[in-house]
Amino acid sequence: MGSQAEHEGIDTTTASTARVYDYLLGGKDHYAIDREFAERLAERCPELNFNWEVRQNRGFMVRAIRHLAANAGMRQFLDIGTGLPTQENAHQVAQAVAPDARVVYVDNDPIVLAHARALLTSTPEGVTRYIDRDLRDPDAILEDAAQVLDFSKPVVLSLIAVLHFVSDPEPVLERLRAALAPGSHLVISHGVHRPEFEPIAETYQRVMRLEDAALRPYARIQAMFGGPDWEILDPGLVPVAVWRPDEPTLVDPASGVFIGGISRKVG
Ligand SMILES: C[S@@+](CC[C@H](N)C(=O)[O-])C[C@H]1O[C@@H](n2cnc3c(N)ncnc32)[C@H](O)[C@@H]1O
Repeated sequence: MGSQAEHEGIDTTTASTARVYDYLLGGKDHYAIDREFAERLAERCPELNFNWEVRQNRGFMVRAIRHLAANAGMRQFLDIGTGLPTQENAHQVAQAVAPDARVVYVDNDPIVLAHARALLTSTPEGVTRYIDRDLRDPDAILEDAAQVLDFSKPVVLSLIAVLHFVSDPEPVLERLRAALAPGSHLVISHGVHRPEFEPIAETYQRVMRLEDAALRPYARIQAMFGGPDWEILDPGLVPVAVWRPDEPTLVDPASGVFIGGISRKVG
């Protein structure tokens, strides 16, 4: 293990989801073990182009945040499972539209903490904050985030490509949704289960030792957007590439491992 990485608590002997994702996006913050993992994924599931998949997922995040800041008047954002900083991070997207936007980032990987400075480049009118916390401890996240966000007003909760790493996400989601005021929005992307995608979850479980990693059926992901107090915005829960694309897309709606959508709290 490199001494700098070791000092920062970064394990370079096991691949990490944040670093593999960074590699697939064309970033620079990854190690040989992460690149090997990405190659393993491609071998196990050759019908998928993982670079394309992660770009589509990131594009969905950008379009969703931009839409909520520009068209729904959202000014507060809580992004859990942020990942490594890349070209367009949530605060840059939101603050380009609304410079006074307040953004709280949460991740539990030490590599993200080590690079969090790049997430803290807020506009003077807005705020960004990074919280080193685990999604499975929503009470701690809510308590820390309340230092920056006013939960009596609408908040955007984004959980992009993170819930599939948690074994039992529903109680966590219930707790987080309950903390949000009417007018809040929930943005989720999640890996959908199909028989041909099974090697993906299996590779994460076995090689990364993430026993909880799971692709889930469409109906179970749809239920994560909330009960009767929540309405799903058009076009619903769809492959991320076809969620309000900037340009017309020829993507086969049945393809792609990430599906995503936005719901709004009405009650
Ligand atoms: C695939 S990356 C997605 C990054 C970003 N949300 C995006 O879609 O571009 C998943 C991120 O979730 C984080 N993560 C995984 N499990 C987590 C947990 N239990 N608590 C907090 N973050 C977690 C990982 O460290 C990683 O940075």
